[in-house]
Amino acid sequence: MKNSKLLFAGIFCLLSLSISAQKLNAIYPGAILPDDTGIHVNAHGGGILYHDGKYYLFGEHKGEKSSAAFVGVTCYSSEDFYNWINEGVALSVSDDPKSDIVSGSVIERPKVIYNEKTKKFVMYFHLELKDHGYEAARVAIAVSDNITGPYKYLKSYRPNAGYYPLNMTDVQKNATAKLSDFKDWWTPEWRQATIDGMFTRRDLAGGQMSRDMTLYVDDDGKAYHIYSSEENLTLQLAELSDDYLSHTGKYIRIAPAGHNEAPAIFKKDGTYFMITSGCTGWAPNAARLFSADNIWGPWTEHPNPAVGEGADLTFNSQSTFIQPVIGKKEAFIFMADRWTPKHPIDARYIWLPIQFENGLPVLKWLDKWDLSIFEN
Ligand code: DGJ
Repeated sequence: MKNSKLLFAGIFCLLSLSISAQKLNAIYPGAILPDDTGIHVNAHGGGILYHDGKYYLFGEHKGEKSSAAFVGVTCYSSEDFYNWINEGVALSVSDDPKSDIVSGSVIERPKVIYNEKTKKFVMYFHLELKDHGYEAARVAIAVSDNITGPYKYLKSYRPNAGYYPLNMTDVQKNATAKLSDFKDWWTPEWRQATIDGMFTRRDLAGGQMSRDMTLYVDDDGKAYHIYSSEENLTLQLAELSDDYLSHTGKYIRIAPAGHNEAPAIFKKDGTYFMITSGCTGWAPNAARLFSADNIWGPWTEHPNPAVGEGADLTFNSQSTFIQPVIGKKEAFIFMADRWTPKHPIDARYIWLPIQFENGLPVLKWLDKWDLSIFEN
């Protein structure tokens, strides 16, 4: 009896080892994505930084029952985008109850960029303070000398306090409509007041709300923070300082009252494209697409970039990042999360190639694909 138990244990170990050792040579959207130890990658709402020949994925560590941060921001590396090595926790939550990032706070959608001038890796994420729901709406910044960390937490705040957006007119700046004037939201009058900057003005002194977010470094090294602001009703795009550690106060509003979350951005042939989602909590909805010839706008909205079965719910997922394929020209990977709020750790990765039709990005479901798709 004892011997057969040992035999079973041995076979089990061998099987797990062979699963973890198995090299992947394709992307399987929606399937378990095993890391080098065979465990499903735990880096949700993430983003990629390509550095020194490797892709580094940073994301939210999620638990079995809770989406709150009890571990921190994790990091995985890959040379081929198929096989991911667990590099551990890049930014750990704190056990100091006074810390912004105390265990149990909400740390979402981390993104890391590299500053060529300071040689520092800079991480931004959406922070919500412990036990305060989603009311803080802050962006947080951490920094490291090494890509995989440990990252040192620096600060969190609502960006651009005291600055009006570049694309707000004088009439909008001087308008007097305020939230207390409206008994109900979503009426035509409320919508117009929102478009005209009612929430921007409300938050002028304390800084603009900052929830779902991404970062983008342009070819000239300038970095931008794009975030759901104004109660998630309007996106804002803001310039970062040269060291990437603060906001300069230069920003625009995009799609006022459009209710966009989950921004992901890339540039192709000089055109900026941004894919976002609507706002339905953890439930999926149809993706949205915007483009602009200049990062400062104007940004134009296009139809849903997803096509085919499941397109109305973005194949049951929500955008998080768009990564250029290194070594291939104009090849981009759309990265999204299929959230599972009852079992957050099990959320799946929906990574699909961006195809182009009539000059616009198109997302089509594929059960399995590899980077050779970009050679066609
Ligand atoms: C949707 C956002 O995109 C997620 O990052 C997260 O904040 C959930 N809402 C929370 O409901």
